[in-house]
Amino acid sequence: SRSFSNIISPESNRSSFGIAFDIDGVILLGSSPVGGSPGALRRLYDDSGALRIPFLFLTNGGGLPESKRASEMSHLLGVNVSPFQMLQGHSPFRKLVNRFGNELVVAAGKGEPAEVMSNYGFKNVVSMDEYASYFDNIDPLEPYKKSMVGQDGHKELRSRENVLSQRVQAAFIVSDPVDWSRDIQVLCDILRTGGLPGKDFGPQPHLYFASDDLDYQTAFPTERLGMGAFRIALESIFNRIHDNPLEYTSFGKPNPFVFKNAEDVLKEIATSPHSSTEGSHHFRTLYMIGDNPKIDIRGARQAGSPWFSILTRTGVFKGKDNHAEFPADLVVDTVEEAVDFILTRES
Ligand code: G3P
Ligand code: MG
Repeated sequence: SRSFSNIISPESNRSSFGIAFDIDGVILLGSSPVGGSPGALRRLYDDSGALRIPFLFLTNGGGLPESKRASEMSHLLGVNVSPFQMLQGHSPFRKLVNRFGNELVVAAGKGEPAEVMSNYGFKNVVSMDEYASYFDNIDPLEPYKKSMVGQDGHKELRSRENVLSQRVQAAFIVSDPVDWSRDIQVLCDILRTGGLPGKDFGPQPHLYFASDDLDYQTAFPTERLGMGAFRIALESIFNRIHDNPLEYTSFGKPNPFVFKNAEDVLKEIATSPHSSTEGSHHFRTLYMIGDNPKIDIRGARQAGSPWFSILTRTGVFKGKDNHAEFPADLVVDTVEEAVDFILTRES
């Protein structure tokens, strides 16, 4: 099924197991591989470079379209990663295209948030960088941020008047916001006015977060604040300046539907057009390898069978023993150790 089949080895559709890898704190720290990840992943391919073991990346991060993120991962890790193997926090946003496909929506966060959304089919999407640029004096701190240049190259030729006259129907926090003060200011403007900053009042537009991670691991020794921290900041401020409490929806792990979707995608990956198991592929075990007990391990535990959770010590979790509240089925030091365990257990 789909074009994935040309890089899949026949061996993989006999596989009774699959693997979901968290990225930050398991595969990468910032943009550097960690825990022997390139070598661990190479073991999942055969000598010709075809995928031997069905696996995917299940990250709460994002900011690039799945195709670009797959190329970036391929480059960083030295293996051939397909866009179908990239499940990012914002990937489920594509399901909202029927609802907001033609409406004005604002996409915020690092990387190319508007590019991400237009790839999902949204026709009238503006990045927060572009949207804020249409309003004179909307961010009083802007003159002090001279070095900050919006990264999102996605800018269509549209008139300022056209954008200013339309109500924003939804705001999507696609990835970790770069300029918290401006984004909190402009989101409060959008959300409390019914989508027309500086103008009248109306019902709160919809607000979607790609995930709700309080913190995550980068190359800095201790955890960094994530999208969940931004959500708390926005919500606390909004609830102080507005009568009705902020309404929002968060996607990403640990939501059970994320794990169900990962299972479905792994089945698709495992099923080649020539396979006799097409449509009825059955996994005995799906391994989730993560670094965050509250997010990755909790999610896999809630998802239940056939998930088996493995916690590494290269990221958020740095404990000696298992996590007390969300214990994993197995705790290892690195992703390399995790893959070694899996391949030995499954051989
Ligand atoms: O911003 C990314 C972070 O919140 C989580 O990424 O790969 O650890 O799920 P990951
Ligand atoms: Mg992680």
